[in-house]
Amino acid sequence: MSQSHLQQSFLSEFGESSEPIRYFQAPGRVNLIGEHIDYNGGYVLPAALEFGTTLAIRKREDNRIKFRSLNLPYEAELEVQDLGKAKTGEWIDYPVGVIVELCKLGVTLASGYELMFEGQIPNGAGLSSSASLEVVTAYALLSMEEQELSRVDIAVLSQKAENQYVGVNSGIMDQFAVANGATDHAILLMCGTLEHRLVPFVTGSYKLVIGNTNKRRGLVDSKYNERRTECDQALEFIKTKLPDLNYLADLSPEEFSAYGSDLKNQILQNRARHVVEENARVLLSVEALSRNDLHLFGQYMNESHDSLRDLYEVSCRELDVMVDEARRIPGTLGSRMTGAGFGGCTVSLVHEDDVARFIEQVGTAYEQRTGLRGEFYVCGVGNGVHELKEDN
Ligand code: GLA
Repeated sequence: MSQSHLQQSFLSEFGESSEPIRYFQAPGRVNLIGEHIDYNGGYVLPAALEFGTTLAIRKREDNRIKFRSLNLPYEAELEVQDLGKAKTGEWIDYPVGVIVELCKLGVTLASGYELMFEGQIPNGAGLSSSASLEVVTAYALLSMEEQELSRVDIAVLSQKAENQYVGVNSGIMDQFAVANGATDHAILLMCGTLEHRLVPFVTGSYKLVIGNTNKRRGLVDSKYNERRTECDQALEFIKTKLPDLNYLADLSPEEFSAYGSDLKNQILQNRARHVVEENARVLLSVEALSRNDLHLFGQYMNESHDSLRDLYEVSCRELDVMVDEARRIPGTLGSRMTGAGFGGCTVSLVHEDDVARFIEQVGTAYEQRTGLRGEFYVCGVGNGVHELKEDN
């Protein structure tokens, strides 16, 4: 939907006022490589998408905050002083959680607001619609209140909102990418320290194709927490040999060769191996990208998926089928699941001449083999959260 459509919906919902309406946008994200590494303190390489969540926002003269979404029917009106008193289990918990975290940092809202959100990211597809919703709320309210906070701090507070208010135990990667993304760049983020740098991601005649399996991510929360616990257990064990180790991803491949096999629990050993090797693959990928070696990068994408499937066990049949079909297309350099797993999306790097064939053939075969209809988005890398100045 265009900005002028959002404006029309906003005005028909909230009416005219002397206060201006301002518009903000936060992207979704795709993780290129470095999966299930953020909460293990290692390197990830996500990128912001060109689509995300748009927020139209306007000050009110009273103390009421009105939340609307063009995607979901639930709506709410709260007094500023009542915010955060009760979770609803609805989408407004994300923006409310952000306001609660802003308050903790001393950013209190001087007035009420009208907020209307319009999301372009399919919910539950693993493209970070929730991080996008959180970060756009934080950034917009800080701008409206004329308060400064760095993009890193915005990411951290948005993650806290999700962990503490919404109650989902996610890592920092999604909010970080949504806050800090830049066109034609991926973000190399060291999650243990939050050191980061932009890495040019210019793929020439190759396109990123995101494939949505449309498989509901049923077990994702419980399995996600299970993986986190397994990693904590593996870390605890390895710390008996290397007491100074802070994170599992701090373990070098050499250290893992030396101590990993002492981990007698095969499952824990597999989880740790994935973390160590995936972390190393991120740095190798950055090196390959800096040499413009997309073929090698594609190979690392493939290795990443295979490790998530076999060692970390967070893939599922639908993701595996889509990846398998993607790799049959001659112009595909690499294909992997992206995000938490158990459904959601794949990301593939495909030659532009083969993209139409890719969508046709992978889509047909995927439907035949799974009974589900996949969806495909050919996308470039967009900017992190920003204000929209003109209708576009
Ligand atoms: C989800 C979480 C992220 C990250 C990924 C897996 O997207 O929100 O923090 O852990 O899964 O890489």
